[in-house]
Amino acid sequence: MSIWRTKSIEQSIRDTDEPGHRLRRDLNGFDLVVFGIGVIIGTGIFVVTGRQAAENAGPAIVLSFLIAGAVCALAAMCYAEFASTVPVAGSAYTFGYATLGEFVAWVIGWDLILEFTLAASVVSVGWSEYAGDLAGFPLSVPVAGYPVNLGAMAVAVVLGVVGMLGAKLSGRVTAAVVAVKVGIVLFIIVAGLTYVDPANWTPFVPPSEPVPAGSAGSGASDIPLTQLLLGLEPTSFGLWGVISAASVVFFSFIGFDIVATTAEETRNPKRDMPVGIFGALIVVTVLYMAVAAVVTGMRPYPDLNVEAPLSDSFRSVGADWAASLISLGGVVGITTVILVLLMGQSRVAFAMSRDGLLPRALSRTHPRFGTPYVTALLTTAVVALLAGLVPIGALEEMVNIGTLFAFVVVSVGVVVLRRTRPDLPRAFRVPWVPVLPLLAALACLWLMLNLTALTWIRFAVWMALGVTVYFCYGMRRSRLAELSRPRTEGV
Ligand code: ALA
Repeated sequence: MSIWRTKSIEQSIRDTDEPGHRLRRDLNGFDLVVFGIGVIIGTGIFVVTGRQAAENAGPAIVLSFLIAGAVCALAAMCYAEFASTVPVAGSAYTFGYATLGEFVAWVIGWDLILEFTLAASVVSVGWSEYAGDLAGFPLSVPVAGYPVNLGAMAVAVVLGVVGMLGAKLSGRVTAAVVAVKVGIVLFIIVAGLTYVDPANWTPFVPPSEPVPAGSAGSGASDIPLTQLLLGLEPTSFGLWGVISAASVVFFSFIGFDIVATTAEETRNPKRDMPVGIFGALIVVTVLYMAVAAVVTGMRPYPDLNVEAPLSDSFRSVGADWAASLISLGGVVGITTVILVLLMGQSRVAFAMSRDGLLPRALSRTHPRFGTPYVTALLTTAVVALLAGLVPIGALEEMVNIGTLFAFVVVSVGVVVLRRTRPDLPRAFRVPWVPVLPLLAALACLWLMLNLTALTWIRFAVWMALGVTVYFCYGMRRSRLAELSRPRTEGV
């Protein structure tokens, strides 16, 4: 029984036609761009930008966005090639199964569960903070002395149900919300420009400064792994600061990879996948850099370390009405991020269960809506509990490390699949293989290494758990294993 067995592309595509486990093909290229923007623009730009500008990069946060966007573009090419070759739900998981074998596929699937579940929970908590801000009272209340984030739980449950009602409905809801969100971001850029004082942009890259011993963030586990491995004195700002800010604002780009998880639900995946992935990525990178430039121009960067830095910047220049409008945009905009993350997670778990690596009963699709309602229900419940009960604000780096790891595997997978299956038709081909995909893998690895040591430890624990589950369950229950097992075995 080999843990390196691969599932053929043809088998993956055939499985999508299995009655009772089939998703509806309903989305086109434009839907995917909207879907992508819907999940990409969220907590990252609304919250993380300000904190990283204040703590790590100063006005050069604009460069951090450029670096993170460029790394994503490299990985996006690999995703686009894969998604246009293997148009099956499950994203990196499915790609991994076709190229690097079942064990690696399981590891990526397990990793994606971490990415999507934690991201949906973190973003639900962010939504609750913005909503509480608008409402004028906190949506997190003590129950028997323990803080319970009711706002975050409620938003996760409502959106989980919306997702279960079908991709098309979610698509329509997403389109409306994305219009509001992009409108607000454009408003921030245009209105903000009138308040920019270019003096705030100097120094553009603040000189590096040592992190004072004993302060928050100075413990060994809070230091980026690179600085720890190289034995450097922990510093913030300077060029290191710009790079470590890039590995954190990377959070703002997460989502374009989720576009690939819907491959099985698109009408013409070969054309629509590259359009969707690149379209969304280009739009958001431009918007992010513009927002970052405007916000760091409006006030000195040390003042940006607040909970709602975008609206706060407008308040600081006396434009309170604009601040409230932006908060409202934040609440509306973040909603779709949660929705799409929930959908992404239920699709990955669906694909893993259809392959028998998780219990098969999980991959039943709804007879009327054609959605994987069992995994969707479970996902919703877990996310609501995590978001409501666990203080997870600090775990956004976990989301980044999980995502970057999946990107590394996908990039390597492109090279492998070119060698093992050169015959397959590819609507989109990454140029300069193997140089470009390997560059993508190294760039993602570099960003991973700039995350903190604590993040690496947590990641290792989660992955060790996943490996145990595989050897105790998936290895034997895998459909691929069952198909290749001689019928007389065990008799
Ligand atoms: N990119 C998403 C956000 O920034 C996860 O909220």
